Amino acid sequence: MLTVCLPGVYAARSDTRFLLESLSCEHISAGSKVLDIGTGTGALAVAAAVRGAAVTAVDVSRMALASAFCNGLLRGRRIRIRRGDLFSPVRGHRFDLIVSNPPYVPESPFPAPGSQSRAWDAGPAGREVLDRLCVQSRRMLAPDGVLLIVQSSVADVPKTCDLLRRSGLRPEVVARARGRFGPVMRERALWLEQNGLITAGTRDEDLVVVRGVRA
Ligand SMILES: C[S@@+](CC[C@H](N)C(=O)[O-])C[C@H]1O[C@@H](n2cnc3c(N)ncnc32)[C@H](O)[C@@H]1O
Repeated sequence: MLTVCLPGVYAARSDTRFLLESLSCEHISAGSKVLDIGTGTGALAVAAAVRGAAVTAVDVSRMALASAFCNGLLRGRRIRIRRGDLFSPVRGHRFDLIVSNPPYVPESPFPAPGSQSRAWDAGPAGREVLDRLCVQSRRMLAPDGVLLIVQSSVADVPKTCDLLRRSGLRPEVVARARGRFGPVMRERALWLEQNGLITAGTRDEDLVVVRGVRA
């Protein structure tokens, strides 16, 4: 299937595919309201739309939103696109399902110039977006609504669960898979070691899907 990925947009990769698997297990019926935060090419948004959901896709990148919109049309679906930071463009709305593959890579002080780093760089602990997502999701969810997020084990999965619990969601790790570091983490491995984010010699991470239900 042809996919539009405009310049600078995060092309779907292992974390996208891993989250798609968990998304496929979620109940989505015609008209379910789904929100995709940090939509990129819209891979997750389109998967939900194809199952009949009314999907809103948010991203800070215009190119990402244009890609997501086109990919929706290619599958015969119209995705509502909104540009802005996390939930700010959809304030006041409630969703049955929020899905997100946010930036979660701990950010070294020496990012590669000209890279697409906004798609993955997330502050010194990799939690700049994750923390806000965890704290703010509850008020964006309908009763019994579900949040599904994917992240690396390097970015502190227990903290994600703790923040979700404290904000009133019931968190559960629903998928976990071990894999070698990708190119960005490999390049930062020594810096991650020096900053205590990984132990010496670690070059593997778990991809983890955390599911939170609005209690
Ligand atoms: C890791 S990519 C994931 C893209 C896509 N969802 C996927 O799984 O392939 C993260 C996306 O989040 C977007 N993003 C980064 N910070 C954001 C923020 N504060 N609010 C909304 N989107 C953001 C980036 O532009 C990028 O498209």
